[in-house]
Amino acid sequence: MKQGSKKELKVPAIKDGTVIDHIPSRVTFKVMRILDLREFNQAISVALNLKSKALGKKGIIKVGNRFLTQDEVNKIAILAPKATVNIIKDYEVKEKINVDLPDEIHNIIKCSNPKCITNNEKVKTSFSILSKTPLQALCNHCERVMEAKDITLI
Ligand code: CTP
Ligand code: ZN
Repeated sequence: MKQGSKKELKVPAIKDGTVIDHIPSRVTFKVMRILDLREFNQAISVALNLKSKALGKKGIIKVGNRFLTQDEVNKIAILAPKATVNIIKDYEVKEKINVDLPDEIHNIIKCSNPKCITNNEKVKTSFSILSKTPLQALCNHCERVMEAKDITLI
């Protein structure tokens, strides 16, 4: 076999846990933040700037011994609507979950309206998803409609 044509994993396979794949490279660390993985004490591998036909450059996160809930998976969709979440048990892919935006997003993203009460008082943010593609999120406090480009995490 010619060098370079081998299909080898860029990040080692895991025995048990979750692999989050097809993350746009530039939001990979934000996905870690959304899932509170920065505080997690089991083995985590992260790879950035891997080649992907669909995304250009993608990121992958592999978390040992943690199985994400559907709620957690759905939060990923705010940043990475094409991500796939693979549940690995005994080295096998047992389940492949596509992320799906929740109808409501509470206290994860900021409102882009500087006058919104959530930016001025201790009030949690709350958005209703009006449209998934393209993303449109309505602030339930000030009625500002935000698009993907306006989104920043709390
Ligand atoms: N994976 C892993 N450890 C395992 C099994 C799989 O880290 N024990 C990773 C693979 O490297 C891949 C992801 O889990 O990033 C999904 O595995 P698989 O479905 O086998 O790969 P693909 O067919 O390439 O997935 P997709 O179709 O979602 O691109
Ligand atoms: Zn607002």
